[in-house]
Order: sequence, then structure tokens, then C-alpha cells
Amino acid sequence: MDSNRVQVLYQQAKKLIPGGTQLLSKRPEMFAPQRWPGYYREAHGCEVVDLDGRQYIDMSIMGVGSCLLGYNDPDVTAAVVRRIEAGSMCTLNSPEEIELAELLIELHPWARNVRYARTGGEAMAVAVRIARAKTGRDLVAFCGYHGWHDWYLAANLVSGESDPLAGHLLPGLEPGGVPSQLAGTALPFGYNDIDQLAAIVREHGTKLAAVVMEPTRAVHPRPGFLEGVRELCDRAGAVLVLDEITVGWRLALGGAHLLYGVEPDMAVFAKAIGNGHPMAAIIGRADTMQAAQDSFISSTYWTEGVGPTAALATIRKMQQVDVPGHTAVIGTALREGLLEIAARHGVALTCSGHPALNTIAFDHPDTLVLQTLLTVRMLERGILAGANFYVSLAHTQQHVERYLSAADEIFAELSEAIRTGDAARRLGTPVRHAGFARLA
Ligand SMILES: Cc1ncc(COP(=O)(O)O)c(C=O)c1O
Repeated sequence: MDSNRVQVLYQQAKKLIPGGTQLLSKRPEMFAPQRWPGYYREAHGCEVVDLDGRQYIDMSIMGVGSCLLGYNDPDVTAAVVRRIEAGSMCTLNSPEEIELAELLIELHPWARNVRYARTGGEAMAVAVRIARAKTGRDLVAFCGYHGWHDWYLAANLVSGESDPLAGHLLPGLEPGGVPSQLAGTALPFGYNDIDQLAAIVREHGTKLAAVVMEPTRAVHPRPGFLEGVRELCDRAGAVLVLDEITVGWRLALGGAHLLYGVEPDMAVFAKAIGNGHPMAAIIGRADTMQAAQDSFISSTYWTEGVGPTAALATIRKMQQVDVPGHTAVIGTALREGLLEIAARHGVALTCSGHPALNTIAFDHPDTLVLQTLLTVRMLERGILAGANFYVSLAHTQQHVERYLSAADEIFAELSEAIRTGDAARRLGTPVRHAGFARLA
């Protein structure tokens, strides 16, 4: 097969669409420039057919974390098709909104009210707006990544070379277009660093609207950390917003905060809640959520029927099947197998993050070159693989075995490339990007 429409199309995309794709993490440059197949024809389970008809198993980020049950899950698809055939948009509202609200409140007894959106970033913007409306305050303390909106990117409105957001998942996020008057309104602190948050509360407590964070991303909270955050919020009168957009449903049904026993004022879900169909939910205590009535928060497509239908089917399936158990077993098998292979070939490798959200890094100055070479060689063997592996229900031990048997061959070459220092020459393609960058 010598057709290369995927590459031709991406060159065309870059002329028509500034930045090439709608999501940074889907840029081929984030994996292997000029090699990664940017466009797909079909996706089922964890199997993908690209636009040129090449077949892959997806051992990478599974729709950037949106398809926890696997692509085109038959139960979710059946429910969505029924909704589409009955008309998914209308002047009247979708009754699934109420059913979903009841289900979310049943799963989260601390919450009483629900609002919806369709993407993670906008749902976080809704949560921050509600927190500001509730408190009448402007400042937000946060850690982690929460999307592209002004409230968040304001953290990078600083003079000079500094990049306060770099330590929060993505480096180089340019805040062009964010009003300069927002400088100083988003205050970063480190995960598991209660002293840093305490210092923010000491200095700005009376102006603090919210503390926004993921309950966990890569590591578990230190004993007392989340409880300490809760206490600081209570003392300052700030709203605690937990972002479950990526970690939610992977470690525990209903979200990681339930695992840790911490009760926020709001929690936000997106991505996996719709298993590939746009859906987001902001849930919270009644006294907090009622502030949504003091601010205009409203959008046409937040009312369509596919999102809540998909979420209902997804959550009901997750109530039947132990997704956290499955993803932990598969993620651990891949991690242990890969570490064993790397050690056997004398390649220094680290696997970090929860097993369901594996991150792979080479302990080598040329880690990006080696990651790119790994991706290129995996592609040659019919495997989509990068620095992250987000496990889904569709991944089986057979997929892990296929990945590991490919890795065994590839690590023999990586070991040789490290020894001779010629990894970049073997690559024959530019090195992957590590974060946000302007495309040529
Ligand atoms: C924790 C977290 N919050 C918010 C977002 C933004 O969600 P979206 O890309 O749907 O706007 C993401 C996306 O990666 C995320 O991981």
C-alpha cells in the first residue's frame, strides 16, 4: 500500500486550518511528524483504520481519553442511534437531561444540582463562572491543566520568559488574546504542595473565589493533602472545584474524589462521560450551583439529545462492568512488561502515572528523539503508540502482548542507537514536539 493521503491531507489542513487540528494533542507533530497518520476512516474497540486503509491497534491516547469503553462501543452507539433516529435536536428539551441528573446525583450523594455543557474546557469555564458568581470574588487558585479559556490562560500573563503553566501538564501555552487586565487572577500551586496553597490563601483568601484542581493526575494525594485543601477552602470561603475530566471514571466509578473520600463543592466531567460523544456535566451542592441563576450561562447545543443519551448509556455500562479494575490490570501488565524489556536491553526507562494513564519516558538527554523513534517503529508494526497509554475497556492481554512483542524488537534497536548515538539519524523524520508550538 503506497497511498499517503493522511500526510497529503495534513499538509492541506495546515494551509487551511491554523495549527492544523482543533486539539493540540491530535497534531501528528505530537507523535512523529510526517509519519503519524493524522486521519482515520473507522475505529472500533481499540482498532483503527486510517484514511489510506492501514490497520492499527491504538496503544496511545484513545481519542485523547474520551473513549474509556473503546471506540464505537456497541451499547453507546445503539442508544445514540435510537436518539438520532427519533430526532436529536428540537425546540423542546431532551428528557434524558433529567434522567442523567438523577443518575449523577445518585452516584454523588454530596451533590444536588447539575448543569451541562459539551466540552471539558467550557465546562470548567462554567464552574469557574458559578464559583465567581457565588462568592462575588475574582481570584482562582489552581493546579493542573483545565483547558483553553481566558480564566486559565490568564496564569501565563506574566512578563519575561517565565511560563507558570509549564509545570501543569503543557509547556508553552501562549496567552495571546487574553485580556491583560486578567493578569494576577489565576494563581498556580503545585499538586501535593499544601504549603503553597496555604500561602495563596494567606495572601489572597478574602478575594479567592475558587480552588480548582484534579483530585489526582499522575500520583495519589499525600495523606491529608485533599483534606487540607478542603479545610483551606472552608476557611477562605472559596469554592472547591474538582476536575474529573480526564481521571474521572478511570480509578473509580463516579470519579477519583469518591475513592479518596473528599467532598468538593463542584465536580466536572467531560471526555469519558460520553464515550466519544460530546458531553460534559458540572455537578455541585445546591447552594453553590444555584449561583448559576445569577449569571447568564446558556448555549444552544448544550440542549441537544445525543450527549446525555451517550452519557446515560456509558455510565450504565460502567455500573455493570468493572472498568477501573480492568484498566488497572491491563495498564500494569503493559508497564511491567515494558520495564522488563527496557531493563533487559539496558535502556533506562520510567513509566509513571496511574496504571490506567501510563506515561513513558526515557531517562536520556535525547528522550524526545527516542520517543519519536519508538513511535515510528511501532507504526511500522501496525501500532499507534506514543509517550502515553490510556487504557480502555477494549484493550485485552492480547493487545498488550502484541505491543510488548513489538517493543522487544524495537528496544534492541533503541539500545543500539543509544550506544552509537545515532538515534536522530535513524529517525529520518523531525523529532516530536513536547508542547504547544507554532507550526510552520
Ligand atoms: C483535566 C482536564 N481538564 C480540562 C480539559 C479540557 O477538556 P477539553 O479538551 O474537552 O476542552 C482536559 C483535556 O485534556 C483535561 O485533561
